[in-house]
Amino acid sequence: MTGKGIGYGKTILFGEHFVVYGLSAVASAISNITIAEVQGMKKTNIGKEFIPGLELIDNRLSVEGYKIKKRGEMERSFDLMFRFMKIDLQKTPLKITLSGNLKCASGIGASAAFASAVARALNEHFSLGLNDEQINEIAYEGEKGSAGNPSGIDNTCSTYGGFLVFEKNLDGGKNKIELIDVAKPLRIVLASTGITQETKEIVAVIKKLRSENKEKYEQMFLDYHEIFDSAIDSLKSGNEKKLGVLMDKNMELLREMTLSCSEIEKIISAAKQNGALGAKLTGTGRGGLVICLVPDETTQEKVAKAVSEAGFEAAKTELGKK
Ligand code: MEV
Repeated sequence: MTGKGIGYGKTILFGEHFVVYGLSAVASAISNITIAEVQGMKKTNIGKEFIPGLELIDNRLSVEGYKIKKRGEMERSFDLMFRFMKIDLQKTPLKITLSGNLKCASGIGASAAFASAVARALNEHFSLGLNDEQINEIAYEGEKGSAGNPSGIDNTCSTYGGFLVFEKNLDGGKNKIELIDVAKPLRIVLASTGITQETKEIVAVIKKLRSENKEKYEQMFLDYHEIFDSAIDSLKSGNEKKLGVLMDKNMELLREMTLSCSEIEKIISAAKQNGALGAKLTGTGRGGLVICLVPDETTQEKVAKAVSEAGFEAAKTELGKK
């Protein structure tokens, strides 16, 4: 039997990195997905195997160099997920095919979408009858392969979809996952720096900086907390202008954390000069993606055009659409 599963891409509106330390973050799934299909193999396909007992056909779209850079992470993710699910590839060799319209890039939750999709497909293939919470647990194991000790926000978005507030329980208990209704959908441009980053490495850098600058980080956490509270109010009341200002403020803190780079700044300038209400990096940073909030379709076109004229790929989408 073929098992099939999907995982959503995601974008973080507020709180990447802060979320690792137990602060709340806001993220939204995007409509682009990764699809995984799992089939059993009669005997292993020696020579074609990704890891012993697993043949992988990866037809996902991706920015240049992404799949090569992420190969090691993917091997770790598979290994962690198979172990967690007690799947023995020597006894049940598998062929997994990945596809979908989510273009893999740093910041879009590609590794989480992959993990959720694979978890769902394995669930179906082996008729395990797992619920979303259990799928999310497996996807979290997979995420550890790429993000080390991740907050869990990416796999939660990839598994559940929708618009949500996420807060990691630092004591190991259940994380807070609150699906929220936004007053109106947000029109955005997602721009790609084209740079692929390793989340695990960057999270470790920030951890070190924090331990060396405790007071500064305490203050930044307090500042972020205020931004988050206002952001929730603005999302619920539909105050886009305020939301844009808050995104810029969040970006300022991310700059202080050394998470920006010249490509991110070029995209932000192009977006702001052409009417974006706010723009910030989304996800890991030091590359990856930039999320630009725009007030209407005309501005969305204008911002996307300006960003691509500056040499970066830009995608237009809406978040929180029912
Ligand atoms: C990566 O998309 C988000 C980070 O906050 C890492 C994490 O939450 O695990 C940078």
